[in-house]
Amino acid sequence: MTVIDNDPMTRLFVGPRGGRISTAALRDASHWDEAVVDLGYEHRVRTVAEALRAARIPAFDTPGAVQPFTQQVLSHGRGLFGFGLITITWEPTACAGRPPAAQPLTALGRRPALEVKERNVVMSLETAPFAAEHASSDELRAWYELAVTSTAADYPSSPVPPYDSYVQQLRQSTSYLGLQRLWVARDSGRLIGTASAVFPTDENSERAIISVRVSAQYRRRGVGTRLLQTMLPEIHERGCRRIAGQTKASADGEKWTNALGFRAVAQRASHHLDIKSVDPARWQVPPTPGFRIQKWVDTAPDDLVQSFARARNAIADSPTGETSYRHPDWTAERVRQYETRMREIGETHRYVVAVDERSGAVAGFTEIAIIPRQSSFCHQEDTAVLPEFRGLGLGRAVKAAMMRWLTADLPHLEQVHTMTASDNLHMIRVNAPLGYVTDHVVSSVESEVGALEARLAGLRPRS
Ligand SMILES: CC(C)(COP(=O)(O)OP(=O)(O)OC[C@H]1O[C@@H](n2cnc3c(N)ncnc32)[C@H](O)[C@@H]1OP(=O)(O)O)[C@@H](O)C(=O)NCCC(=O)NCCS
Repeated sequence: MTVIDNDPMTRLFVGPRGGRISTAALRDASHWDEAVVDLGYEHRVRTVAEALRAARIPAFDTPGAVQPFTQQVLSHGRGLFGFGLITITWEPTACAGRPPAAQPLTALGRRPALEVKERNVVMSLETAPFAAEHASSDELRAWYELAVTSTAADYPSSPVPPYDSYVQQLRQSTSYLGLQRLWVARDSGRLIGTASAVFPTDENSERAIISVRVSAQYRRRGVGTRLLQTMLPEIHERGCRRIAGQTKASADGEKWTNALGFRAVAQRASHHLDIKSVDPARWQVPPTPGFRIQKWVDTAPDDLVQSFARARNAIADSPTGETSYRHPDWTAERVRQYETRMREIGETHRYVVAVDERSGAVAGFTEIAIIPRQSSFCHQEDTAVLPEFRGLGLGRAVKAAMMRWLTADLPHLEQVHTMTASDNLHMIRVNAPLGYVTDHVVSSVESEVGALEARLAGLRPRS
């Protein structure tokens, strides 16, 4: 270590032709593992028996086959399981060629090829930014199919967006939340993983919201982690301090984020309302005396925009768990900016508000987003009632009025989807009588960018 001055690119650790290098050593005899750990290389410590079994060498498949072999090799007189094998992999930055395919051993006496593992097959992995606006239709189709398959596996009740609508959103450099950047992972040119980061503005400009997906058959090979490593510099450069994502409980996503040190900060339940299976009588909610119902599409009337902005701020009382998310500080100007933005990205937003007849001000509201070319489902956005008017039935009244409006003039609409904090009992009590049912619960996860960078710094790509 002293001789190489802690330089990981020193010749000692770089193979002559680049590429992935694996080796195994008897740790107690060589101290090789300590050198590797000090340099921050990826490594595993296994007992001899584990390593030989992982190598899937037919000669060692039968119980009892390992011990005679290792006793022969290890003549130290120490117990077999007191030794560890360490497998070491690293990849020089100048790696050019594919690593050679590992040869399984068939006889005793040859060194076990420890990199031959079920999910550690040879790949030519490349990760890169993805410019959707210039991408070929094959790549856009591959991205779409990966998104649809992965979502269907984790969230079977989620609606499938049509291809055109999905690709239109993918091609937008800005999502409804903020600037959107994309990356892909390819194996020999074939798209096997996708990633996006959205950079919200204003109160949430220190957060990056990420979504990483890897084809089911390529999971547990470091692809997702490599994508994250590729994204991190841009996330850092944009001044983000936290990375936020969403995973399904007990699914691969949660296991991955757990392994990377993300923290679960909130639980959110996905609900949907299936229009055809709900009796419309549920939406015949009588108006609350002293309040009138008013509705508009996209642009708030000038005489209501001020009080509408105030009512929007009531959403700040909805529970957000331990997330770093900050509710927007709504003003009339900000409402107008939001309306402009939604029009730019082609979304139609419908609003139903309850107006206090004494003051003429908005007391509560609900908002629905309709995404272009997605005529069979829409998204329930914010619903909020000012604190002084809670408990009067306004929340249910505006949502019921919204359902009557949607079903009256959107004949193709089949479902309304929404997400609610799992502990938002008031919202859940409003939703249930209207016909919403729970689909699944998702975890919001977060990590500090600095902590994640530190954790990933020692990892090297695995292929
Ligand atoms: C989450 C996802 C992107 C992970 O991709 P991946 O390429 O399989 O992950 P990696 O191989 O980089 O995993 C790195 C480590 O995370 C942990 N991990 C990942 N998936 C795991 C699983 N299914 N079970 C247990 N641990 C897991 C392991 O510690 C793994 O290292 P190891 O294989 O050496 O033990 C992939 O499972 C996926 O596409 N899921 C659906 C979408 C999703 O939930 N995304 C996350 C929210 S943004």
